[in-house]
Amino acid sequence: MRGSAATALLIFIALIFFVGITVYLFAIHYFAPPPPITSVGVRIDHQYDLTLYVTGIAFILAQLGLGWAVFHYRDRGKPARFTRGNTALEIAWTVITATVFLGLGGLAARSWAETRLTNAKPGAIRVEVTEEQFTYYFRYPGRDGKFGRLDPSLVSAPTGNPLGLDPNDPAGRDDIVASTLTVPVNHPVELTIRSQDVIHNFFVRELRLQQDAVPGMTVPLHFTPDRIGRYYIVCTQLCGMDHNQMHSFLDVVSEADYQKFLRRAEAQ
Ligand code: CUA
Repeated sequence: MRGSAATALLIFIALIFFVGITVYLFAIHYFAPPPPITSVGVRIDHQYDLTLYVTGIAFILAQLGLGWAVFHYRDRGKPARFTRGNTALEIAWTVITATVFLGLGGLAARSWAETRLTNAKPGAIRVEVTEEQFTYYFRYPGRDGKFGRLDPSLVSAPTGNPLGLDPNDPAGRDDIVASTLTVPVNHPVELTIRSQDVIHNFFVRELRLQQDAVPGMTVPLHFTPDRIGRYYIVCTQLCGMDHNQMHSFLDVVSEADYQKFLRRAEAQ
């Protein structure tokens, strides 16, 4: 159908329809994450919302523009015109995109950096997180507050030394190794994330934190949970056959329950 407005109009309507569905799914929070349990998590959510509003408006305008172009430049039975483009327009949208992109990044940088590039508050509970196919180990320094030395040649999960703790180092005698992460509520926690084989990940949705565990690196990460509960820790890096089974739990408990946990672990 030469010069037909009907086809162009149909494509325009289809575009509006898909834009409408997409906006609707976001507007009703169809993919809503569980509420955050840290103040940084709340800020990250605000940042995410802001980014979503800005990119959402750009998305709607771009799709409407596309629909308009499809309709306006439809086949009218005349030969196509050649155009060399518009330099001023090219510069304008490059500058606008760059400004928005860098602006959002700049606004988000502090929230992101706060959990990684600043020091944890003094008195933070330190836990070393070691990941390997397909488990998590959480090591607490014990009463002396010092982590014992690790010797990779001593790593042996079957004999009960999955981390390779050196038995000759007195600092390691009271170290506690657990399979889940237990921390007291409203207390700063500092993790050091490491891996014993391939790249894994430490992800807790409620903390809004996701960090790779990279062999040969120890990555610090800190947070202060403000709600008691049990939360999933999952590995989000494809790390082998049982990657989908690789998870643990973050237990945020009362101070009294935390002391109980330590005493029970020490007794073992
Ligand atoms: Cu470890 Cu996926």
